[in-house]
Amino acid sequence: RIEGAIFDLDGVIVDTAKYHYSAWKKLANMLGFEFTEKDNEKLKGVSRKESLEILLKIGGKENEFSEAQKEELMDIKNSWYLEYINKLTEDEILPGAKELILTLKEQGIKTGLATASKNAMLILERLNIKDLFDAIVDGTQISRAKPDPEIFLKCAQKLKIDPQKCVVFEDAAAGIKAAKLAGMFAVGVGSCDMLGEADIVICSLDQLIKELK
Ligand code: BG6
Ligand code: MG
Repeated sequence: RIEGAIFDLDGVIVDTAKYHYSAWKKLANMLGFEFTEKDNEKLKGVSRKESLEILLKIGGKENEFSEAQKEELMDIKNSWYLEYINKLTEDEILPGAKELILTLKEQGIKTGLATASKNAMLILERLNIKDLFDAIVDGTQISRAKPDPEIFLKCAQKLKIDPQKCVVFEDAAAGIKAAKLAGMFAVGVGSCDMLGEADIVICSLDQLIKELK
């Protein structure tokens, strides 16, 4: 029986991918190359550092910067990203997300958040949903990024629930992989072709909540 539900943040609870995309695109343009929406798919669920490495490779600039310069580039991107996040409102919570979490809680299921983002606390505050979660693990608390299962195992541990009794909601292939490696039931939120390894794929949390009713 499922005792815990663990949610990814970006792309599952709130559509921040478009803001990440705008900020990375601006950085690519600053460095003199293009960055498309299709390229952006590769950054979903991936850590900030790894995102930068992928972006630089796309621009053929993977060997041009020192580690210190890369830190600077990440800071610049994040400051642009934060301009959007600071304006985020509750209206941007994806349809069905809040209802689903509240429904699960009513049924006695513990809820967790497991996100690679280091901006998670700010996002949760802006959306006013911090209290919905019994445990939160964000990018500041992990040493290995998804697809490593560390983040989900840590979240299950905080919830005091056996990983096998947890279900994960994820929109990124790396996240689905991490959930499966953690021994959890993985629900892909999005399109089947990108989330092939998931146990089931749903179009949106809204679809699921309607089916539960
Ligand atoms: C993930 C996003 O949730 O967080 C990635 O899907 C992002 O696109 C990663 O790169 C890290 O986010 P942040 O907020 O720490 O830059
Ligand atoms: Mg995501």
